[in-house]
Amino acid sequence: MTRTRAGLLALAWCLASMPNAMAESDTDAAAQRLRALLEDPAPAADAWPVRREYDPVVLEAGQRLFRRNCSLCHGWNAEGTVSDWQKRDANGKYPPPPLNGTAHTWHHPIPVLLRTVKEGTIPLGGSMPAWQEKLDDTQILAIVQWITSLWPADIYDLWLQRSGLR
Ligand code: HEC
Repeated sequence: MTRTRAGLLALAWCLASMPNAMAESDTDAAAQRLRALLEDPAPAADAWPVRREYDPVVLEAGQRLFRRNCSLCHGWNAEGTVSDWQKRDANGKYPPPPLNGTAHTWHHPIPVLLRTVKEGTIPLGGSMPAWQEKLDDTQILAIVQWITSLWPADIYDLWLQRSGLR
């Protein structure tokens, strides 16, 4: 191999690995935002896109991840899979509610909502599985952004208030 050729290959390798490096630092930034939001959303207000100006790439990923992991229980468009989500089953457990803004998911301030997805509700006597081993923080953040993107404006506003962001 000539020196020029080796040099060109090295250059090509550098260029090829650049987008990855960028994607990784994006991922780090998102993970940091999620951690800040888990601590206390109010000081981390700039960590949440309050005006719902979500990145379309994040939304697309959130939708895809939701449909793959959550839709079996919560519905393809987060519309729910049961007729009455407030009615406990024979074991006294609540069924999976809709997450599209028609049920009460917006009652949970940001840290509670994120924690519910990460840790599930089994430790609390419910039946929602934990996701922290299967999805990373960036993926969970993308899913939650997609879910909240479905909510009517007034519901979203109430949720911001509860989260201390309004
Ligand atoms: C095996 C079924 C199942 C799957 C899969 C599932 N969930 Fe759930 N989820 C539930 C159930 C059941 C509840 C009701 C809470 C309880 O157990 O008391 C729930 C509750 C929730 C809540 C709280 C809603 C509220 O209004 O209080 C959120 C948020 C949520 N799920 C998000 C998700 C996300 C995001 C995923 C995918 C990453 C997911 N769930 C996957 C069953 C599931």
